[in-house]
Amino acid sequence: MLNIYTILRTTMKFFSSRTLAIPLVIIWQGQFGYGQVVLPSINVTNVAIDLLDGSHILHFLDVVDAFGHVSARNPDNASQFIMSFAIAPALATSQSLVTYEIDNATAVQLTFNTSVTGDAVPSGFLERYIHSQIYKAFPNITGVVHAHTINVISFAAAEIGLRAQMGSAGSTGILTNGTPIFDFDTLPTSVLPEDAPHNLLIGNEALGDALADTFQNGSEIVLMKGHGMAVRGTSVRNAVFRAFYTMQNADVQSMATLLGALALGGQPPAGLSPRVDMDATTTFESDSLLSRAWALWTAQVDQLSLYDNDLRS
Ligand SMILES: *[C@@H]1O[C@H](CO)[C@@H](O)[C@H](O)[C@H]1NC(C)=O
Ligand SMILES: *[C@@H]1O[C@H](CO)[C@@H](O)[C@H](O)[C@H]1NC(C)=O
Ligand SMILES: *[C@@H]1O[C@H](CO)[C@@H](O)[C@H](O)[C@H]1NC(C)=O
Ligand SMILES: *[C@@H]1O[C@H](CO)[C@@H](O)[C@H](O)[C@H]1NC(C)=O
Ligand SMILES: *[C@@H]1O[C@H](CO)[C@@H](O)[C@H](O)[C@H]1NC(C)=O
Ligand SMILES: *[C@@H]1O[C@H](CO)[C@@H](O)[C@H](O)[C@H]1NC(C)=O
Repeated sequence: MLNIYTILRTTMKFFSSRTLAIPLVIIWQGQFGYGQVVLPSINVTNVAIDLLDGSHILHFLDVVDAFGHVSARNPDNASQFIMSFAIAPALATSQSLVTYEIDNATAVQLTFNTSVTGDAVPSGFLERYIHSQIYKAFPNITGVVHAHTINVISFAAAEIGLRAQMGSAGSTGILTNGTPIFDFDTLPTSVLPEDAPHNLLIGNEALGDALADTFQNGSEIVLMKGHGMAVRGTSVRNAVFRAFYTMQNADVQSMATLLGALALGGQPPAGLSPRVDMDATTTFESDSLLSRAWALWTAQVDQLSLYDNDLRS
């Protein structure tokens, strides 16, 4: 079927470089019975491809289930971010993607159907404030993941921070008390008034700011007690990579803690040394290794008809 996306894809293949600085803005009028649609630029389309792959990959790798989400800062406008409306990440397609204001997390438009604006955009995730407030707090963050990964939740439940136990999880960090833990029960009433729902959800700017404030230099992850984790990254791929390896790290740390306790004169695992943590993070999060992982993960989600990245298929 010939539609605007087929045309966009064909055009993109013609200009085969993914980073070609050609502003691809096509004004499409009326022909298929809807209003004026401005197609996103190549840069936005490339980020959207990663965003859909990222949603599917996070589900495939069991980092998210029905809940959880990933977003990207708009590469064409640093005051906006892109994430799907409220839908299970496995089911996201280009038509689920929404462009939001970072300023107040309100919907601007459907990213791939700009004729759908404001209130006409389907309801977003209540917790999109996790994303808006992280982008607001950290100007060089361009990808964010929020997930309810159970092996990570165990650590917040036990009030034990994660520390990097392996190179691929280097960005988990080696802070003395491990990754910071955000705890709803310790929020001041100025952030969480007595009469507001104490349901763990980051549903407004004040809660989002409190969560963003919990990040500490030296860790890219915040554990959320009773809830999950928030991960900041320098791209969608980077945030997805960090989220997956934080989950893996939680398993390794659990095992190592148990084994350490069983050993004679046992100790909890110390984690990586500072030099190894820093160098391993640089190596594992390099474009080369990130691309190798991404190539595998996209090949895996492509095997399953559950996932439809209609911008790439
Ligand atoms: C698209 O992204 C590339 C790489 O980041 C950048 O060099 C280029 O200026 C961007 N193009 C536009 C139109 O913003
Ligand atoms: C960037 O986004 C902001 C906030 O939505 C908007 O006010 C501004 O007009 C946008 N800039 C451009 C160049 O589109
Ligand atoms: C949200 O923020 C944008 C950008 O600052 C602004 O243009 C818009 O009016 C705000 N919307 C609401 C509902 O506050
Ligand atoms: C864009 O949205 C309009 C209004 O909901 C709809 O009629 C149209 O089919 C949509 N276009 C695409 C390509 O989905
Ligand atoms: C992002 O900014 C922070 C300071 O706000 C800085 O410590 C960090 O090195 C920066 N990261 C990158 C990748 O530029
Ligand atoms: C640590 O993070 C804060 C913001 O939370 C920033 O202002 C500061 O520059 C950072 N310090 C270093 C050494 O990166």
